[in-house]
Amino acid sequence: DAGKSGYDHYMLKEIHEQPTAIRQCLSERVTELEGCIDVDSLASVSVPDRVQFVACGTSYHAALYGTRLLRERGVPATAFLASEYDVDAVPIGDDALVVGVTQSGETADTMGALRGANRVGATTLAVTNVVGSSAARECDHAMYVRAGPEIGVAATKTFVSQQIALVMLASELTGEYGDELVAALRDLPGKIQSVLDASAARGIATEYRDSDAFFFIGRGYNAPVALEGALKMKEITYRHAEGFAAGELKHGPLALVTDRTPVFALVTGGSNPTKTIGNVKEVETRGAPVVAVTDGCADVERHADFVLEVPESHPALAPVIANVQLQLVSYWVANQLGRSIDKPRNLAKSVTVE
Ligand code: G6P
Repeated sequence: DAGKSGYDHYMLKEIHEQPTAIRQCLSERVTELEGCIDVDSLASVSVPDRVQFVACGTSYHAALYGTRLLRERGVPATAFLASEYDVDAVPIGDDALVVGVTQSGETADTMGALRGANRVGATTLAVTNVVGSSAARECDHAMYVRAGPEIGVAATKTFVSQQIALVMLASELTGEYGDELVAALRDLPGKIQSVLDASAARGIATEYRDSDAFFFIGRGYNAPVALEGALKMKEITYRHAEGFAAGELKHGPLALVTDRTPVFALVTGGSNPTKTIGNVKEVETRGAPVVAVTDGCADVERHADFVLEVPESHPALAPVIANVQLQLVSYWVANQLGRSIDKPRNLAKSVTVE
């Protein structure tokens, strides 16, 4: 218990450590004065023709986020679930950079995918939290996310650190930084701190903890955050939760929406509010409670029963902040239901079987 620093659970402590984790991840890598990003371990990695991410669980959601960062900078990128990656079916060749995103650096599925990529001659990079882990040793290059040890089975601070590492990776590989992005990275820990200090998540958890299911929707950079919000909810609360790219709601999931299924709608700068608001109206018509996770979009707030506020930031970083609000909602639902938060049933921190 001493290691929990006064928090009831490691997970809550680790959620609160996210501003520090980000500072550690950025430390000496972002030169504010020159407005650029410089990651030593990537100095010898040439700009790839394409990037393939391989990852599992929460790390896969970080990888999905990474694909968008790279595509926006002109590099074709795809994220694969490591267990579905097949170098023989999808030949990659030596023009590709294969990036294993893995907190532990030990996940068997991710290791298998990285070994396959190495076998066919791809350049490989591990984005990991553990120095000297199997993934770091297997790959040609390693970039450390520097989140510090994470004890809670449900990944929180390592996810935010992976996201920030991938922002740096995409910027460094392509040479496209942007002063605004560099400034927004500098301000990010303070903005996350403000969410931690004044989140409405606990009250929302009390309101909805006995719901039949929880749905999460978002577009663009918010789509992987919607998936992660649902994964966190199911991992630690054992409640049914699903995340969707907002546009997919009408292609099936809408059939599950009732007045007992709250829908968390992520709407932050640049994520096409008009279309997502259209989706919100569809669930509102079916009587679903709506929680808007937004940086002040009045149109979505108008349709919401509750609002989780996201401080304004760069379009690629506001979803990183929004995710923290969703972590807190899951935590408080699990807390109020008396779940085993740090060690959820049937789950392991690191899965070393395929
Ligand atoms: C397990 C954990 C998840 C984690 C996944 C991938 O399933 O319970 O929280 O996201 O493994 O782990 P990795 O160490 O590869 O990031």
